[in-house]
Amino acid sequence: MQEQVAVLLARMTLDQKIGQMTQPERMHVTPDEVKRYHIGSVLSGGGSCPGDNRPADWVAMNDAYWAASMEEDGDHLAIPILYGVDAIHGNANVLGATIFPHNIGLGAMRDPDLVERIGVVTAREVRAAGVDWTFAPTLAVAHDPRWGRTYESFSEDPELVAAYAGRMVKGLQDSGVAACAKHWVGDGGTRAGVDQGDTVVDEEELRRVHTAPYTAALEAGVLTVMVSLSSWNGEKCHGHRYLIQDVLKGEMGFRGFVVSDWNGIDPLADDYTEAAVMAVNAGIDMFMVPETWQAFIAGLRERVEWGHVPIERIDDAVARILRVKFLCGLFERPRPWGRRGSNGSSFGSREHREVAREAVRKSLVLLKNDAGVLPLDKGARILVTGPAAHDRGRQCGGFTVEWQGVGGNGAIEGGTSVWEGIRAVAPEAVLWGEGGDGTAVGELPDTHDFDATVVVVGERPYAEGLGDIREPGPVRPGTNHLPAGPGALQPYGNTLELAALHPEALRLIRGLAAQGIPVVTVLISGRPLVVSAELDASRAFVSAWLPGSEGAGVADVLFGDHDFVGRLPMAWPGEMPGGGEGTEGGRGGVLFPRGYGLSATRK
Ligand code: GLC
Repeated sequence: MQEQVAVLLARMTLDQKIGQMTQPERMHVTPDEVKRYHIGSVLSGGGSCPGDNRPADWVAMNDAYWAASMEEDGDHLAIPILYGVDAIHGNANVLGATIFPHNIGLGAMRDPDLVERIGVVTAREVRAAGVDWTFAPTLAVAHDPRWGRTYESFSEDPELVAAYAGRMVKGLQDSGVAACAKHWVGDGGTRAGVDQGDTVVDEEELRRVHTAPYTAALEAGVLTVMVSLSSWNGEKCHGHRYLIQDVLKGEMGFRGFVVSDWNGIDPLADDYTEAAVMAVNAGIDMFMVPETWQAFIAGLRERVEWGHVPIERIDDAVARILRVKFLCGLFERPRPWGRRGSNGSSFGSREHREVAREAVRKSLVLLKNDAGVLPLDKGARILVTGPAAHDRGRQCGGFTVEWQGVGGNGAIEGGTSVWEGIRAVAPEAVLWGEGGDGTAVGELPDTHDFDATVVVVGERPYAEGLGDIREPGPVRPGTNHLPAGPGALQPYGNTLELAALHPEALRLIRGLAAQGIPVVTVLISGRPLVVSAELDASRAFVSAWLPGSEGAGVADVLFGDHDFVGRLPMAWPGEMPGGGEGTEGGRGGVLFPRGYGLSATRK
């Protein structure tokens, strides 16, 4: 392997080397340009989908990029392209995919074996699209639910994150898809949970909490690591030579390649090329430069010629990239159209969905069950309602078909809403109100004909900084997919109180409870929320997190086919955590500790 890398590297020109280090986004690069600029990788940002967004469209796109990358001639060497996507809870960009619970729900399962099986199924559905690399697993150890990416974290407990890290990597990579441990490092520890903010901890805590899970990922042979857009004690991770070169590559012995995050080099310096030089010299090997990739190539070439970037650093980066491509078997793989896994019939299959449904069942956490209201009787007359009762998009959350996720049922093909799962097992169940935030406010059904009501409420989908809870103000303009400047989009809200974020939920729960009917509340959310009022008005309360496409898993447990086994992967606050970005933060009162969760059938 080393010999193959050395021989190929020795044949490469500087342009070909820098091309391998460059990763444009698919909307900004053509197959011809992939060949002309010797591009090593292309990505899809969240929701960036070709054609009709079917596996065949993805295979066709990947086949075109692959063919261009392999067209050897006097100027271009045949080095297969590596295509990357955010398949972080199934290959959820693609219509009809099996969509798993987001990581916080997997953390509640406490089931590393199932996490590995999820990796295997995810890899099959990634390869069905002709893709070879996913930017997963996220190894963030999230502490503050105000962070918009809390749901991408398995747990606030680094040991649980570590227990999952190696298994997800193994499930993915043993099934032929390169994994990516992200985001290096401390992304989940920023002050007040501000996305891309500052993690202010001493080195002992950084290592004990945030770098620890990477050890397990490296032991499992993870092939790539993505750098965090956040900072450590005021210094951007993307320019942090100590963390990348010395700790990750030196001390921890990481042998794969390090990829930057979306426009992650931009904030390092006012001059773009200066920023690129800083990031290359810090030890990053591949650059996610979605739109500015031509400037990146030109600037880096110039600075290498000026001696600002040692050629040894370039050679190290390219050698790592080539090594990963050899380890992935990319050089031996046929073109995407010709691969066995492409357009695989298991994509979105019942077998795959059963794995996801098992994960949903095991992820549910029962926070309250007065007088044994749960499990419900399948023959009972159940009134099902609430804005998230029949909304498969909402139950999937962000990074689903669109970067910010989708509402409604149209875009989530296959799978079941919570209502559809209940209807399938309880013939007397009735859906009231067609869901969506417009659920009839004020008017309430007359519930005297019913035995119980299931009210499904919670958050709308969001991703990254748009899910942050903090004072209004542009979400880090100019980074990621967001428009720069005053038009930049806003955070989700300024409080974790569900009654303030979505008052329709409490109105519904209280209105129904006032009629004397037992209320079972199911919360769809990417994180713990302050729900004290909703809890008080409910007889039973279930945290369902973001269960994904197989909402029927909720009914499996509500009606007792399976017991509740989920346990909180992070503490549940009784009040808003203290402080804002400028303060030490600190935790509001804890209502339920990490590890809490009731069962419904064991008396
Ligand atoms: C995003 C995220 C990262 C993702 C990348 C590509 O900004 O920070 O997790 O993998 O861009 O979509």
